[in-house]
Amino acid sequence: MGRTNESPLGKVTEAVKVAIDIGYRHMDCALLYENENEVGEAIQEKIKAGVVKREDLFLVSKIWSTNHEKERAKANLNKTLSDLRVDYLDLLLIHNPMGFKVGNDYLPLDKNGLVMPGNTNFVDLWNVMENMVDSKKVKAIGVSNFNHEQIEVILNKPGLKYKPSVNQIECHPYLTQENLINYCHSKEIAVTAYSPLGSPDRPWAKADDPSLLEHPEIQAIAAKYKKSAAQVLLRFQIQRNVIVIPKSTTPKRIEENFKIFDFQLTENEMETILKFNRNWRAVAFEWGVKHKDYPFHIEY
Ligand code: A2P
Repeated sequence: MGRTNESPLGKVTEAVKVAIDIGYRHMDCALLYENENEVGEAIQEKIKAGVVKREDLFLVSKIWSTNHEKERAKANLNKTLSDLRVDYLDLLLIHNPMGFKVGNDYLPLDKNGLVMPGNTNFVDLWNVMENMVDSKKVKAIGVSNFNHEQIEVILNKPGLKYKPSVNQIECHPYLTQENLINYCHSKEIAVTAYSPLGSPDRPWAKADDPSLLEHPEIQAIAAKYKKSAAQVLLRFQIQRNVIVIPKSTTPKRIEENFKIFDFQLTENEMETILKFNRNWRAVAFEWGVKHKDYPFHIEY
């Protein structure tokens, strides 16, 4: 898996510096992305230059699926902290409910192309992460790619000390996630939308996959406000109280994606966009369908 869908390494430090200058403060990182060192370099430079203080930033990272076992999870966090050059994270997520066979391969597949499971479970990892909060290495903990039943398992854990603050999920108009968002919000769990533009750069895209940025009605709404389709897709999320994390290494687009606070979609437009839902996933983890913790067998 590695860096298949990630930003070109040489561009990451510059992109983060540009983003901080523009006003971005929330950085969504992960060990899996193999670029936390480059992100950390940018953060350190901007702190040294006095552009931001550490406490102005909201740094998020994740425990990868081969690191669900206690000692490996701790090593995962320590590497992230050291690469980002900080002594705490604002939020640490379980990257994926599925734990994988331990090893150097990020995505260990068998001869049928299915992921080889580990012998951990995410509740044990949650206990480890609660200790990370107590040790002050992270301020809050959460999950990513969890369905509502998996969240429920954590919420019902005997002796739960900290509940998940966030569930980070794929979300855009072709996967509006209304049920899961309503569920999370009802439990006071914030939702973060990844792939909000439909992840147009994913290497596994098929020719007939729907393109959100080219959707005529999204484009028509964008034209009405003299905005881009991307800006409409991002505004759609913040208007429904969903945190949104577009990815770009292009300075012009990084700037464009930040200019979404000076217009407002009407209720009708929000309704229209919600109707584009077709439960289509850009990131479906096809290799995980046999895993006991595969999150997408149930509707939400
Ligand atoms: P790039 O990094 O070359 O700017 P998602 O966040 O849904 O995963 O989408 C990320 C992809 O969308 C990246 O390929 C990124 O390209 C592209 N992208 C980011 N912002 C915009 C934008 N404002 N307009 C068009 N494409 C964008």
